[in-house]
Amino acid sequence: MTGIAMLGTGLIGSCYTQALHGGRSRDHVDLVYSRSAEKAAAFASTWNVARSTTNLAEAVNDPGIDVVVVALPNDLHEQAVTAAAGAGKAVLCTKPLGRNAAEGLRMLRAVEDAGVFHGYLEDLVYPPKTLKGLQSVQAGDLGRVLWVRSRETHPGPHSDWFFDRARAGGGAIIDMGCHCIEIARSFIGKEVRPVEVVCWGDTQVHPIESEDHAVGMVRYENGAIGQFEVSWAFRGGMDLRDEVAGTEGTLWLNHWLRTGMEMYSAKESTQYVAEKSESSRGWMFPVGDEVAALGYTNMFADMLDAFEQGHEPAETFYDGYVVNAIMDASYRSIDTKRWEPIDLPLWHGQGANETSRLSRAFDKDHELVKRERMPDGKTKLILRNTLTGEISQRVQ
Ligand SMILES: NC(=O)c1ccc[n+]([C@@H]2O[C@H](COP(=O)([O-])OP(=O)(O)OC[C@H]3O[C@@H](n4cnc5c(N)ncnc54)[C@H](O)[C@@H]3O)[C@@H](O)[C@H]2O)c1
Repeated sequence: MTGIAMLGTGLIGSCYTQALHGGRSRDHVDLVYSRSAEKAAAFASTWNVARSTTNLAEAVNDPGIDVVVVALPNDLHEQAVTAAAGAGKAVLCTKPLGRNAAEGLRMLRAVEDAGVFHGYLEDLVYPPKTLKGLQSVQAGDLGRVLWVRSRETHPGPHSDWFFDRARAGGGAIIDMGCHCIEIARSFIGKEVRPVEVVCWGDTQVHPIESEDHAVGMVRYENGAIGQFEVSWAFRGGMDLRDEVAGTEGTLWLNHWLRTGMEMYSAKESTQYVAEKSESSRGWMFPVGDEVAALGYTNMFADMLDAFEQGHEPAETFYDGYVVNAIMDASYRSIDTKRWEPIDLPLWHGQGANETSRLSRAFDKDHELVKRERMPDGKTKLILRNTLTGEISQRVQ
């Protein structure tokens, strides 16, 4: 069995452990690290983890450990990844990979130089609904993807360090924009180069230095747009939604506030409702299995299958570094109020190519602009003359 060490006992350490223990049934966290002995012991007892330590080096060098999971605040990712890679261990790191692309790239180089397996724990490309949507998009059911809109908003994070710009590396963009950006990349095609970003961001509510609200657009080389909308100022719980618009179809995914379970109680409930829920009475939107709905279960199955079978998982440190580079350009755009180029010193995808215009040939002289069935039952065709550019219509 694969020996797993969990570094960190906070919210995500608990979600990851719950997913690992529930997922493939055969996975179990063997060792937990926390800088506090009490927290490590409490975590070990809650999750039935055999061993705990307050020494990070001891955790990653433990001979019984094959895979190290980094579930620590953003400013500790590089140190933990470097230690795990130095110990020759496979390493799975939570999002965002780095606080910026330079940090992300150093981590990618550290695991590549050490020759160890690496996975980027971007759970939100793994929810069951998203995987099914991705399959349809990849099979071409929606035609060419033109626009992906991804939103993650809630009233703000649960721990102090998220609000500290130096520790987190930024605000809502670094915390949640990373999810939205990778969701859009996945639908558009990870081989398509992201070229430039325009982004608005502001601190609207919280007394902090970082942005608590931002909206950005990422332009890809094939002309597709990935739009991200993130907020720590949104009220009413956690809103997670994705929309994909293609030349032949549309996909809408709603992951949290409207998931098919809606419950009303006139009484104050003592039950946990869902992550970032703001109400425990009145109308509530509970989630049946949070770790499955958020993609953690499928994500660890992919990571550990890939590790055991000796191939790459769907998300690697390379993806984390690309996402970091897109976020760096977003922060620059907030300052300059202009489109900012995305700086990718390392790029494994497609080279520069022209945006291919769709062929809409109608007859030898015309392209079809639009076809619509009218209320009188007739069909109207709007045409463009390919030589003169003249627009005309025919009714059939
Ligand atoms: N959906 C997701 O993928 C997701 C969700 C939440 C958090 N995260 C990521 O997981 C990481 C941890 O976030 P969290 O929500 O668990 O935070 P958290 O605050 O709940 O937990 C962080 C843990 O790190 C410990 N810690 C803090 N400072 C430390 C230090 N200097 N040395 C050692 N340990 C220290 C804390 O005591 C705590 O146990 C972050 O990188 C965050 O972005 C990912």
